[in-house]
Formats: sequence, C-alpha cells, structure tokens
Amino acid sequence: MATSKIIVLDFGAQYAHLIARRIRQLHVFSEILEPTASLKQLQDANGIILSGGPASVYGRNAPKFNPKIFSLKKPILGLCYGHQLMAQQLKGKVEKGKVREYGLAELQIKNQDKIFQGLSQRETVWMSHGDKVSHLPEGFVIIGSTTDCENAAVADFSRNYFGLQFHPEVTHTPNGLIILKNFVFNVCKCKADWTIGGFLKKKAKEIKKQVGSRKVFLLASGGVDSTVALALLNKALPRKSIYAMHVDTGFMRKNETKEVEAALRKLDFSELHVVHAEKKFFEKLRGVIDPERKREIIGKAFVEIQNRELKKLNLKQEEWLLGQGTIYPDTIETAGTKHAAKIKTHHNRVENIKQLIEEGKVVEPIAELYKDEVRELGKELGLPSKLIGRHPFPGPGLAIRCLCSNGIEEEQQALEQKAREISKKFGFKATVLPVKSVGVQGDSRSYAGTVLLQGNIDWKKAGQCSTVLANSLREINRAVIAVSPEKIDSIKLLRATLTKERIALLREADGIATSIVEKHGLANVIWQFPVVMLPLQVNAQGEAIVLRPIESREAMTASFFEMPSAVLGEIAGKIMQLGGIGAVFFDVTHKPPATIEWE
Ligand code: XMP
Repeated sequence: MATSKIIVLDFGAQYAHLIARRIRQLHVFSEILEPTASLKQLQDANGIILSGGPASVYGRNAPKFNPKIFSLKKPILGLCYGHQLMAQQLKGKVEKGKVREYGLAELQIKNQDKIFQGLSQRETVWMSHGDKVSHLPEGFVIIGSTTDCENAAVADFSRNYFGLQFHPEVTHTPNGLIILKNFVFNVCKCKADWTIGGFLKKKAKEIKKQVGSRKVFLLASGGVDSTVALALLNKALPRKSIYAMHVDTGFMRKNETKEVEAALRKLDFSELHVVHAEKKFFEKLRGVIDPERKREIIGKAFVEIQNRELKKLNLKQEEWLLGQGTIYPDTIETAGTKHAAKIKTHHNRVENIKQLIEEGKVVEPIAELYKDEVRELGKELGLPSKLIGRHPFPGPGLAIRCLCSNGIEEEQQALEQKAREISKKFGFKATVLPVKSVGVQGDSRSYAGTVLLQGNIDWKKAGQCSTVLANSLREINRAVIAVSPEKIDSIKLLRATLTKERIALLREADGIATSIVEKHGLANVIWQFPVVMLPLQVNAQGEAIVLRPIESREAMTASFFEMPSAVLGEIAGKIMQLGGIGAVFFDVTHKPPATIEWE
C-alpha cells in the first residue's frame, strides 16, 4: 500500500525542512524537492506545500520553479513566499509592504472551515516578511487578517488552495501545528504512518553502506549532536572503526573538557583522544574582529588539527571518512541549501569541509534532524538523559560570544533620536550602543546595532519595544535592558580583541550564570543561555556582560526567557563582583529579528 506523502517545495532558508519536520511530527512522510521538480516527481503526493524564503517574487533572485504545479489538481498550501508566489501565478498581485513585520501578530479568523478548523477567532501567529499579497486571484476569499496585513490567510475552497502570510511551522505560532494537521489530514486525506525508531533502523543501514570497510574519524565536542552521532555510528559500525577526538579550543565553558572527557569515557564507545589546542586557536585569532572571519578561522583550525591527527594515525586518504554531528539548522544557516541566505558560517561548514563533502568523504548521520529530534534519537539509543539534556554550545565556543572592536565609534545621533522616541512610548530611556551583532530578518542575514534600554524591567514592554525598534529601524536588530548598575553615566567603545584574559573573565561570568540557573531548577526551562561580552567601558569600571537566555524548540526561532527577578538579581550581583565588569545587560530580543548568538 502506498504511504501518505506531502511534498514540500523548498524556496529557501529554514522553512522547507521545518515544515517537513512538522509533517513528520504528524507521523506522515514528507519529502523536500526543488521548486523545479517535474510533474512526475509530484505525482504520488497527497498534497504540496510551497515554503517561505528570503526572495521577493518580482526580485531578480526569485527561485525558478515549475508553474505547471497548478495544473496537477492537488491541494496546495503556500506559506509566506509560497503564498505570494501562488497569488502572483494565479493572477493576483504582490506588493512591497509599507510596514515590515517581524514577530508576533494577531490573526482574526474569518472562516473556520478546513485548515482553520478547531481554532479560535483570534490566534497568535509569527510573521517575518516585507512583501505582501495586495490583490487576490479569482476564486480566492480572505479567511484571516492581521492589523497590518488584510490578506494574511486566503483560500480557494473549490481547488483546495490555501495561502498564509505567516508561518504555521514555527513554534511561535502556538496553534500552527493544528493548521498543518488540518491541511494534511482534512484537506490532503493523509494517513499517519512514520516513526523515529524507523528512522534509526534506516540510518544504521545507510551508514554501513556508505562507510563500508573504512574508518570514521569524528570530532566529539561532548555536545548533544556529536554525542548522538557517535552513538549512532557505534550502533551501525564495528567499534574499532571509529576514532573520536575532542579538541579543547581554549574557548570552552568552565571545566568543559574535563567533564566531557569523563562522560564520553564512561559511555565506553570507541577510541577517544583529547587534544589541547588552546595556544593554536588563540594565535590564529589574534587581532581578528570580524565575526565571520572568526568562524572561518576556527573551522579551518579544526580541520588542520584533524589532518595532523590523521597523519599520526598513518591512515591513507582512501581509508577514512570524516564524521560530523551536523544537524539541520547548522546547514541552513551556512546557506547549505540552494535558496537559503547565509546567516552564519557554522564551524562544520567551512570551505575545506565543503570540499570533503563534495568528494563524498563526510558522513553526517543526523544532518536532516532538528535538536529535539536528535534528543529523541539519543533516548532511543539509550544515552543518559544528563547528556541528552545539555544546552547547545556552538563549535566556535566563547570566541563568538566575546565581541571585539577596533575602538572607532561611528556617529549615530540621528538614529539615537529615533530610537529614543520609540522607546519612550514604552517607558524606557534609550541609547544606541556602538556594537553590532548578527540578526535574521526576512530570512536574510543582518549585521546591525543594539539599543540599550534603561528603566523598570517589565518583560512584556521590553519585548514589545525591541520588536518595534527592529521593525522600524533598519540599523537596529537587537535591544538589551540594563540590569546593573542602577545608574549608567558613561559608555565608551574599547579597542579589544580575543585575549586569554577577556575569555577567562567571560568564562567566569558564564559559569556563574549556568550554576545559578541550575540551582534554581531553570536549566531545563531555558533552552540555551549564551553569556556575551561587549567591548564597552561602562562607568569607567570595565566591560559589559549580556545575559541571553532563550526559550526555543529548534533554534530556528526563539524568544528571550523572562527570568524571575530574584534569579536575575543573583546572577547580575555575582557577575558584578567579579571585577573588571562595568555592567550587566539582558537581551530582550526574540529570534527573528536577532539570532541566538550575537556573532
Ligand atoms: P543562532 O545564533 O544563529 O544559532 O540563532 C542557532 C543555534 O546554532 C548554534 N550555533 C552553532 N552550532 N556550530 C555549531 O555547532 C556553530 O558554528 C554554531 N553557530 C551557532 C547556536 O548556539 C544556536 O543553538
């Protein structure tokens, strides 16, 4: 009997995989294809979803696609870009929106048939777009609107075509899964027939076939991803054929290498070697300021160490493969799929590694999974919950949480004036900080400024204020709120690079934050907790530390964690006592518009 299947056409960024994953959560098989897929490839699908993406339908870089999909007479759901594309193709109209919307919006539902079945009349939805559909094609009606977007949800019930300007696939659309479920089961008439155990069996077979009699060399950071990848390789291959290596880059968290080594040895997998390479990493990064250069240099250094170790092992080129615990978001952020915009170069996607991938010399057994699926797989593989539950930590480590600067401040008075006017409405005083950080807006990378808010810490107001700031000012993608000290008299940009002293101080601050949230039982509620250092001299005392705890499920979207004030006070107090710290700020930006990490 043919299994049910939904095909997702990938128009870019994270969306296609996130949609496919949601469909997997409904236990329905889902395949991702290029938008140029032939009618034959689409023939046996129960329905088709057109994903979102960073392009504009009229833009020069609009992805090519097969317009004949509309002749298939299959149900189609267009999301964001897909919604605009469908409208444009069926002779509606798309325009540049006057207001760019990033973040939460309220959808007023006007028709609860089919895809909106079981929803309330008002639903919170997640938007991230610039363009919008301005005229509907014939046969379409509006089934939901937001304040800024009348055609936010549309349908042609006779043809089973649906278009949504928002993203039902992200967890920030709380009832998004219901919408997808309605589409998959009510509209496309799929049956639920897919599981993680099934995935494990299928992967083990694939690994065996790919690796054959060769050896696999794997960099084990001790994080969830590489540990699960290692366990999966151990399940699929003979023990002797796996060689795991842990590199201490010098940018690790407090006691990290020691703890990781102990945990991995306890699992008693394959051979494990620990390499201490702090000196090499610091030397290569001396004087480097640009975040992408940091990432490139670190990724390359990993490859060099790997090669050196392989040489020591006396393995011939054809005798080994490189194993990596790459997961889906890593690939997508580095623009690993055709239409995605590059947000950040992840350490396992630098040029040398891409070359190895092309040569077929890399095995990445969990590359299509998201973090929570990786955790589920880890459980299925029998790994201890302490390991599976660890917070994600990026390969480049503290190096990308320690911002650097040449010390030259740019003039930003006009911008500051605008930021002040906006922030005042929410009861905050605003200053534009002379630092930049990475963001993701409309699925593209941004590298923009941060506003420092001062005033009473009210999470709701701070969140609204940061959203409005980023939506209205192109030069801003992030906002932080001052936690300590009470009064900030002066902020000066410092000339600062990656030094052992700065990293040591950041590591202490990070250690304090981690242990206090653990003590209060919050480590499981918080999904990840970067602690960041800014090259600013505050009140002539020392540098600024930013706390960035977030809640998320798969890191593609995130909200800042509304930390209880007693816990926040305890963390800030202890960090201020460290010496060399002039202020503690708290990041009040969601993703989008800001990414989780600052660089
Ligand atoms: P952002 O900052 O882009 O991060 O919102 C999304 C998730 O990816 C992690 N991250 C990395 N993980 N190598 C990794 O293994 C990297 O180079 C890297 N950069 C970011 C980040 O910590 C978050 O969980």
